[in-house]
Amino acid sequence: MSPYPEPLRQLPAASDPAPGPHHVAIIMDGNGRWAQARGWPRTEGHRRGVEALRRTVRAASDLGIGYLTIFSFSTENWRRPPTEVSFLLGLLKRFVQNDLAELHASNVRVRMIGDRDGTPPDIRELIEQAEHLTRDNTALTLVIAFNYGARDEIVRATNRLLAARAAAGVAPLPISEADLAAYLDTADIPDPDLLIRTSGELRLSNFLMWQAAYSELVFTPVLWPDFDRAALEAAIHEYRGRDRRFGAVKQQAV
Ligand code: FPP
Repeated sequence: MSPYPEPLRQLPAASDPAPGPHHVAIIMDGNGRWAQARGWPRTEGHRRGVEALRRTVRAASDLGIGYLTIFSFSTENWRRPPTEVSFLLGLLKRFVQNDLAELHASNVRVRMIGDRDGTPPDIRELIEQAEHLTRDNTALTLVIAFNYGARDEIVRATNRLLAARAAAGVAPLPISEADLAAYLDTADIPDPDLLIRTSGELRLSNFLMWQAAYSELVFTPVLWPDFDRAALEAAIHEYRGRDRRFGAVKQQAV
């Protein structure tokens, strides 16, 4: 048994040889404003957003990033006008259909986080086929957050944990952080080191609220359709200049 409380045991080794970030999460915001600034429909911004996503996946792969999580559709996005919702669903379908072969050839592993039960069956099937095909790939893991909301994820995890205990005839309480984390959609995915939000908005918007507890946050005014390798490198540069202490203090010479 470790003498340390759980959060301290999660501290990374002081001499991490790779500077990271190992896991980058992105809130791809600003598609609508990018299009409207040009007098175009919002959907054109989403369409260009897919191109920015392709650039970013390639750049993340080239830079040796292990995990890239993208917020593609939130549990709250269903509130958008039906035409925009169906456009976004169609874009995601086409992205998986058109890009899967290239992702697989590039050794990219695809994963989904989010509420699968509330996901349209055709999209769920496509993503699960992509997960199956790419499950043994070892370069970048592309985590698609679809029908994802952090509060929803935490509630689903709690329900599943308690149901599993009931089925096993185990006392429901107490639960630990590790118990709950094991039932999150991200159970086998490391926490993000760097969380980027584009478009100048300064919010988490219900994205990875558990996992981002100690992530470094970088907010850039770049609108998502303009995001590229240089913007990703700038965010990584900012990350590398940060002093990550995870609530502890830096060891000092005495
Ligand atoms: C936010 O921009 C973006 C979204 C709600 C959807 C993100 C989707 C894409 C980038 C399209 C490609 C994704 C995949 C996985 C195919 P916004 O519409 O909120 O922009 P605004 O804040 O300027 O209105």
